[in-house]
Amino acid sequence: MTANVEVQPLPHWETKPEDVTGATVEIKRALKERIARSGRTVEEVFADLEARIARRVEAIQAEREAGEQVWPVIDFADIEAGTVPPELVAKVKERGCAVVRGTFPHEQALQWDRDIVDYTTRNEFFEKYTGPADDFFASVESTPEIYPIYWSQPQMEARQSPRMAAVQGFLNSQWTFESQGRQWFDPNRDSLYPDRIRRRPPGTDSAGLGTHLDTGSIDLYMTQGYQDVFRHVFSGDVESYDPWDAAHRTEAVNYPASTMCSAFRTFQGWTALSDMGHDQGVLHTVPIPEAMAYLMLRPLLDDVADDELCGIAHNQTFPISWKWHPLLMEAVSGIPDVQAGDTVWWHCDLIHSVAEVEDQVGWGNVMYIPAAPWCPRNEAYAGSVREAFLTGSSPSDFPEEHYERDWEGRFQPEQLNEIGRRGLGLTD
Ligand SMILES: [Fe+2]
Repeated sequence: MTANVEVQPLPHWETKPEDVTGATVEIKRALKERIARSGRTVEEVFADLEARIARRVEAIQAEREAGEQVWPVIDFADIEAGTVPPELVAKVKERGCAVVRGTFPHEQALQWDRDIVDYTTRNEFFEKYTGPADDFFASVESTPEIYPIYWSQPQMEARQSPRMAAVQGFLNSQWTFESQGRQWFDPNRDSLYPDRIRRRPPGTDSAGLGTHLDTGSIDLYMTQGYQDVFRHVFSGDVESYDPWDAAHRTEAVNYPASTMCSAFRTFQGWTALSDMGHDQGVLHTVPIPEAMAYLMLRPLLDDVADDELCGIAHNQTFPISWKWHPLLMEAVSGIPDVQAGDTVWWHCDLIHSVAEVEDQVGWGNVMYIPAAPWCPRNEAYAGSVREAFLTGSSPSDFPEEHYERDWEGRFQPEQLNEIGRRGLGLTD
C-alpha cells in the first residue's frame, strides 16, 4: 500500500449485523470499489486468479488420471527424524493436506478403538444417547455418526502424545508465524482442542457430507479481523495472498454460531482408529489452499445479486457448489487407503467433503484432533477447555450434552504429562 493513496476503511461489524442483507450490500459495494482502485476490475482480478487455479486443477486431474496419489503421504518416521524430503514438503504446501503414515502404531490405534467401545458401553452411552443436539450440518446433507465424547483415555493419550506433538509441530512450521514484528503463534505448543469421535459401522449407507468450508461465513467479509486476514484479496492484489501467512489469523473472530470454532487451527485433522479403504465414504478435499481467494472473490462478480454471497449464510456451513464454483469442484480428491494409526490433515481453509457410501466395508472410525497452536486466542479458549476437562463437561464450542460428567474411566488430571499440562495452560 503506498502512502499517498488514501484508502477508505472498509465497513465492518464486530457483532452480527441486525440487517444482514443491508450489510451484505454495503460490504460488497465497498469491496468492489476498493478492488477497482487497484487498477483492475473485480472481473479482471478474478479472471487472473481463475487461470492460475485452473492450472492447479489440471495438474491434479492429470495426476489422478495417471493413477498417482494427489494427497502427499509422509512417513511419521521422517517427521520424527527431520528427514521429510524437500519435494514432499513442497507438495504439502502446494496441496494443503497430508496423510502421515504410522503416526501411532497400528496395534495401539486398534486398542484405542476397543477402549472407546469399552468406555462408552460401560457407561451406558447408547442407552442414554438422545440424538444429535446441534444443527451444525443443516445446510449440507449428512447423517454423521458422531459421538459427543471428549475425555476418553484414548483421546487424551493421543492429544498429549509426543508423536502427535511432532506431527503438529511439523505442520505448524509450514506457516509463516512471525511477521510484522510479532509471533502470531507458538508452533511447538498445542492447545489440545477437544473434539469428538466418529464411529461408523460396517454396512452403513451414508449420503456423506456436502462440499463445504469450516473457516466461517458472513463474518469472513464483515469483521475487521478477517478483512485483515484477506487484506490482499480485498485490495485487488490477490497475487500477494498467501494462505500460509498467519498474520491476523489468530485475532480474527467469528460471530457466535453453532458452526463456530473458537480456536485457531492451522490444520484440521483426525487420527484413524480403523483401516479404511479410499472408496468407503472417506474424506475428500479441494487440495488448493489458494482456492480460498477464489471463494472470497466469487460473490463480487456481476452475476451475483447485490444482497447475495453465493449461498453463504450465518449459522450455516459455507457451501461450495457446482452452481457457483464448478472449477473447484473438478479438483475434489479423496484420501488414499489409510490404516489405523495414520493421521489425516487439511489446512483450515481447505474445501472438504465426505463421500457417500453404500454398504460400507469395515469400520470408519476416527478421533478428531487438529493442530491448534498456542496463541492468545487459543489460550483464552483453553481456559474453558480446562473447566470442561476437570468436570467432564462438553467443551463450550459444542452442544451442552455433558454425557461424561459421572463416567467411570474418564481421563484424570493426574494422568496429564508435560505436553498435556502445557496444552491446557496448567503450566508454561
Ligand atoms: Fe468440515
